[in-house]
Amino acid sequence: MPVLSVIGTQWGDEGKGKILDLIAERADVVVRYQGGANAGHTVVVGTEKFVFHLLPSGILHPGKRNVIANGVVLDAEQLLQEIDAFEKRGIEIQGRLFISAAAHLVFPYHKALDRASEGVKGGTKIGTTGRGIGPAYADKIARTGLRVGDLYDERRFTERLRANVAEKNQILQAIYHAEPLPFESILAEFLGYAKRLRPYVTDTFHLLRDALDAGQYVFIEGAQGILLDVDFGTYPFVTSSNSSALGISAGTGIAPKRVGEVLGVAKAYTTRVGEGPFPTELPPAEAELLRKKGEEFGATTGRPRRCGWFDGVATRFAVEVNGVDALALTKLDTLSGYDTLQICTAYQIGGKSTDRFPCGEVSLDGVKPVYEKLPGWREPLTGMRRYDDLPKTVRDYVAFIEDFLRVRATIVSVGPARDQTITR
Ligand code: IMP
Repeated sequence: MPVLSVIGTQWGDEGKGKILDLIAERADVVVRYQGGANAGHTVVVGTEKFVFHLLPSGILHPGKRNVIANGVVLDAEQLLQEIDAFEKRGIEIQGRLFISAAAHLVFPYHKALDRASEGVKGGTKIGTTGRGIGPAYADKIARTGLRVGDLYDERRFTERLRANVAEKNQILQAIYHAEPLPFESILAEFLGYAKRLRPYVTDTFHLLRDALDAGQYVFIEGAQGILLDVDFGTYPFVTSSNSSALGISAGTGIAPKRVGEVLGVAKAYTTRVGEGPFPTELPPAEAELLRKKGEEFGATTGRPRRCGWFDGVATRFAVEVNGVDALALTKLDTLSGYDTLQICTAYQIGGKSTDRFPCGEVSLDGVKPVYEKLPGWREPLTGMRRYDDLPKTVRDYVAFIEDFLRVRATIVSVGPARDQTITR
């Protein structure tokens, strides 16, 4: 298939960056289509660790083109810092990075509003990354946003930015009793970004269409996961974009019929950062153990991730919504050392049992997971390179997940390094 998408099937942090980096060799173009600097993808190459927020993972592969498409909300400051940091490490960006002129910009007032609104929510806060994602997408939908291409019409950009800053300052002051933001310095900052971004800005719709027409391979890199999707995730505790495969067409301009194969990425257990329902969450002491074993701390915010057992109900829903063709199952090595493992196969909701993930009609609050117990394994897996070398209990665990999700795990990951991956 000329278009292959790598999509998270949980609440993000499934290891999409590593999987994409692994298969990027076969791609001609790698594309980010949604989200922004809220994402944090970690890729380990030899002894080096690379953390991405906005750059697509294909950037580590010489010769590949990388696209930040129209569906992304672009934090120019963050992106430029990332470009500088990668260039310092010898990675060429010029001529390999293409940014859609139609991508919306994230401004300091978006970040200020994100933090201010979270600050007053108390018990109902979402636990956002504070990167201004919600307010930036809100402006896009409200048609008051400014796009990357707007930076190059200085007069119009200045007028519209002035109006936006004035409006947001009123909200910041009157509603959140926060400090107003200085228009002149924001303008100067963004006119500076305009110059630095210029070489990368292009019409990515036509770039992608031409690439596909020429028979090139386009790989799509999802950020977050389907359970954070604004339509199909655990609303309102979600991000503000369609982080499922459903967002690919709108976020890139690739026609739905051209969006081909979907590789779903799932961790062998479940984690979540931020607030919101999490049916298989472990009690604090057990969660702490899993967190330590899996080094489960957010790549963007450093926050400790909430940890729990593999949720078959939620992940099967993700497989269905995303149309997952094959699964990459990551971090199996983290589960070494348990006598017994548990996989959630149904939810008890209001006294009734169901294996269907509730899709808006009932709340996930108070859901009780129904578990299947499976034998664990003691052996460390990090040195294993062939599927048949894995202990039988590990293969049984994988087979149980495959049967339950009705999808084959064609990639199994046993550590962060590129070679700690088993392809079947
Ligand atoms: P926002 O995207 O910053 O608005 O945050 C909304 C929710 O999505 C919060 O629960 C965040 O913790 C979560 N979130 C956003 N980006 C990521 C990610 O890349 N990995 C995991 N969780 C994320």
